[in-house]
Amino acid sequence: MTAVETAIAQEIPFSIRGALLWGVQVLRQAGLENSRLDAEVLLRHTLDMEKEQLYMNGDAPISAGQEAKFRELLLRRSRREPVVYITGHKEFWSLDFFVTPAVLIPRPETELLVEVALQYARQFASRSSVKVLDIGTGSGAISVCLAKEQPTAAIVAVDISPVALDVARVNARRHGVVDRIRFLPGDLFAPVKAVAETFDLIVSNPPYIRSGELPRLAPDIHRWEPTIALDGGPDGFDTYRRIIEEGHKYLVTGGPIVLEIGADMAPDVADLFSRTGCYGPASVYQDYAGKDRVIAAVKLSTSGAAPTSISRG
Ligand SMILES: C[S@@+](CC[C@H](N)C(=O)[O-])C[C@H]1O[C@@H](n2cnc3c(N)ncnc32)[C@H](O)[C@@H]1O
Repeated sequence: MTAVETAIAQEIPFSIRGALLWGVQVLRQAGLENSRLDAEVLLRHTLDMEKEQLYMNGDAPISAGQEAKFRELLLRRSRREPVVYITGHKEFWSLDFFVTPAVLIPRPETELLVEVALQYARQFASRSSVKVLDIGTGSGAISVCLAKEQPTAAIVAVDISPVALDVARVNARRHGVVDRIRFLPGDLFAPVKAVAETFDLIVSNPPYIRSGELPRLAPDIHRWEPTIALDGGPDGFDTYRRIIEEGHKYLVTGGPIVLEIGADMAPDVADLFSRTGCYGPASVYQDYAGKDRVIAAVKLSTSGAAPTSISRG
């Protein structure tokens, strides 16, 4: 037994307040930075209580069943399982999303991608429907938010992971937009190639971590989040290359590709857009931390030069 496992096996103080303080200590001993917040969220999840209730009922006892459950959750967290996977909840765009280890945990930075995509979508607002393709939908966070904010959006959400699509479907149902999102399993454009569709807008938050950097990510990320959602190949650009090279075939003229990017990737992704000869100049958008986070470029008229294929390096 490790020291943390020994601590978790100890008797828990009788009251809610005592259990909370004990949980904080256990997680601190496990080396977790946010031990206070994590213990509080896990105890609230155990007791099914709002924050205020937890603090107003500090002297109340917890049952043996609740004690066993809290112990189990602390053990999972001490092994670096993200709190969000333990509780199954993540807030994104002020909506509650269901998440499991089959999907990337939606990040606040990705809300900028939703904002930028909505700006473009509004240009097509006079049409009866705005056709959107979301590549690598994961939890469905982007598609669900776009569908909620843009009532005329008709979305195709693709993911290579069928289990991720199951999670995305739950979220679409939860937020009342399942009728406007079609979920298709497959590799990037393969599922839409089959039906020869074109879109007004393509959005994607693709995997963009350099393969060699994966083991250096925090253990919560590299041990728990799906590698397929993170690994962007040796230089991080594998999926950008494919999306940019192929994407124009599935876009209407004047339609944009809107992509989330790593903070140091804007010049290279802009270069990928310009090398195909199929897109106008790229626009780069900064997140609230002032970092480059989203890039977009619009498909030019098809009468231009034949597209150049992009190879690595
Ligand atoms: C960075 S995650 C983004 C998830 C979600 N869109 C978000 O922003 O939170 C990338 C997603 O792309 C999917 N993916 C990776 N490679 C893919 C491919 N070749 N074709 C389709 N989906 C892919 C992964 O399964 C994962 O769900």
